[in-house]
Amino acid sequence: MLASGHGSNFEALVQACRSGSLVAEVVQLVVNNPACGARQRAARLGVPCLLHDHRDHRQRQDLDRAVVTSFAASSVDLVVMAGWMRIVTPVLIGAYPDRLVNIHPSLLPSFRGLDAVGQALAAGVTLSGCTAHLVVEEVDGGPILVQAAVPVLPGDDHDRLAARMQVQEHRILPYAVALAAARLPLAQG
Ligand code: GRF
Repeated sequence: MLASGHGSNFEALVQACRSGSLVAEVVQLVVNNPACGARQRAARLGVPCLLHDHRDHRQRQDLDRAVVTSFAASSVDLVVMAGWMRIVTPVLIGAYPDRLVNIHPSLLPSFRGLDAVGQALAAGVTLSGCTAHLVVEEVDGGPILVQAAVPVLPGDDHDRLAARMQVQEHRILPYAVALAAARLPLAQG
């Protein structure tokens, strides 16, 4: 998994695996921010965590190369971007074709890009939601795996809507991983 922030989606996926509701194992977390909450959660949960600080890499491709090398060493089958606040390049996308899943806090194709929750509030929609999708080069543009609708309620501010959104993100991400895995050819041998 890849994470940059609080890591609540990371923890939700680890718990889904450990409870048996998702038949998978989170074998490696990579973070790009030394102070991120996801890193602390990984330590608490006993999930190996590597730091690849984006500030140590001149180009986006260089960061992605470091990430791919780390995941290759752990023999991962599928990569989940759980709040990975970096634009990914063909280096990562090409290493995991149809195996790279992202979670985004809007009902795509609405409100792509940064601060989708703020975009939804500014637009005045009464229904928003979250989307788990496969990653392609077009940002937030890949095939949709699972969506959940989240109402925007009177009096909602950014924090309240984001918190309600995250409950649904945590619900759909394990389904999305299962669906992404089911689309893949069976492993040989
Ligand atoms: C989530 O809302 C996700 O949709 C967005 O970043 C947030 C990450 O939250 N891409 P967390 O770090 O998993 O708590």
